[in-house]
Amino acid sequence: MNVTPHPAPTDRFVVRGGHPLRGTVRLSGAKNSALKLMAASLLSEGTVELTAVPRIADVPVMADVLRGLGVEVELDPAGETARLRADDPAWHAPADAVSRIRASISCLGPLVGRTGRARLALPGGDRIGARAIDLHLRGLQAMGATVVEHPGEVEVLADGLHGAAITLDFPSVGATENLVMAATRADGATLIENAAREPEIQDLCRMLVAMGARIDGIGSPNLEIEGVDRLGSVTWETCPDRIEAGTYAMAAALTGGDVVIERVRPTDLTLPLIKLRAAGVIVEEGADSLRIKAGDLEAVDVVTLPYPGFPTDLQPQLMVLLTQAQGTSRCTENVFESRFSFVQELVRMGADIEVDGHHAWIRGPVRLHGTTLAGLDVRAGAAGTLAGLVASGETIVRDVHHVDRGYADFVPRLRSIGADVERVPTDAADA
Ligand code: EPZ
Repeated sequence: MNVTPHPAPTDRFVVRGGHPLRGTVRLSGAKNSALKLMAASLLSEGTVELTAVPRIADVPVMADVLRGLGVEVELDPAGETARLRADDPAWHAPADAVSRIRASISCLGPLVGRTGRARLALPGGDRIGARAIDLHLRGLQAMGATVVEHPGEVEVLADGLHGAAITLDFPSVGATENLVMAATRADGATLIENAAREPEIQDLCRMLVAMGARIDGIGSPNLEIEGVDRLGSVTWETCPDRIEAGTYAMAAALTGGDVVIERVRPTDLTLPLIKLRAAGVIVEEGADSLRIKAGDLEAVDVVTLPYPGFPTDLQPQLMVLLTQAQGTSRCTENVFESRFSFVQELVRMGADIEVDGHHAWIRGPVRLHGTTLAGLDVRAGAAGTLAGLVASGETIVRDVHHVDRGYADFVPRLRSIGADVERVPTDAADA
């Protein structure tokens, strides 16, 4: 099995600030949808055809995970499609691919639902917090599964799942997805209270229904799933990436630009758009587009929360924007305990940010100056690039393979709207 090679860990972005972004940029399908739709193919006794699959690094890695489970996967990055068949899935996935991305844990629920067993390496992904899976496991146990802990791996056994009433301590995205997918094949009805309701979860539920699942309450915090004997084929379009769209919207606002963003559902970004408008940004909404025009930036207070709250995945990008706003903003991070790690990188560029626990106070406007930034994680790497767009001098963002995990064609897209940014493969000597 040809495993997707580990990315070159030393590629860097070189960013030179001072250029307002102007023009039109068309975005991709959502990373945090496509990976789960791929995992859901484990439930299908037919063929799953996906379109609008983003050209991001995590997609071929997820394909490797699924191939390790016996799934036939055909990817066409140019055509943004994936075709998957899981006639007889295995239950033990290869550690190498599984440990590289968080989304691999999304194979747990469908595998147990389909085969009654799963053994996966504990997931990898961004280093932004503990990334526990206790809610996933407790929910599966409520449905009759047994959990066996191995060093670095988790094994779940179920001699047939049964319906259950589950209340999640926290509306966990991953736990909700796994439990819904497992419950589609359980015997009887499962009620999940305090479920996450991100657009990507709603999209997954609708695809499962199209495959023959029975799910009520989609989009609400209470999901009711009636188990069925079989899920079949489906052709499905991945929903637009609201986090990618929010990232480009903030880049436009930050640089004094005027950008039209295509392939976006404005209704998925209600709170980010409220906050952008409150900060003085001019936002025009189309059916599947946004026009972002910079205004005089004013300080705002933001609290990250599960959807429909302000998404934690836009918090680093927002921090950059707020360094340019007049006044003192407060940002409260409630989802990931270590997501403020990016703040130190911004402070090194001259930002005036004070952190106390879950709160950060950002005083602006300040003139950021270019420096070399660690890539940290998908969103911090993107946010560091945004900081370079407004900083004086040159900013180098290291380890951009993190950014590649979540942003398709990031450099070409930014350059297409006027950014002075280039990708520099750096040899190991400079790493
Ligand atoms: C998903 O992660 C996304 N990743 C994250 O996006 C996103 O930030 C997050 O949801 C919140 O929206 C993917 O979809 C691949 P959670 P996930 O389960 O599922 C705690 C990005 O940049 N928790 O909602 O891991 C957990 O520790 C990434 O695209 C438990 O304690 O998020 C965290 O503090 C980053 N026990 C909080 O809940 C559990 O069993 C949110 O986790 C599960 C979660």
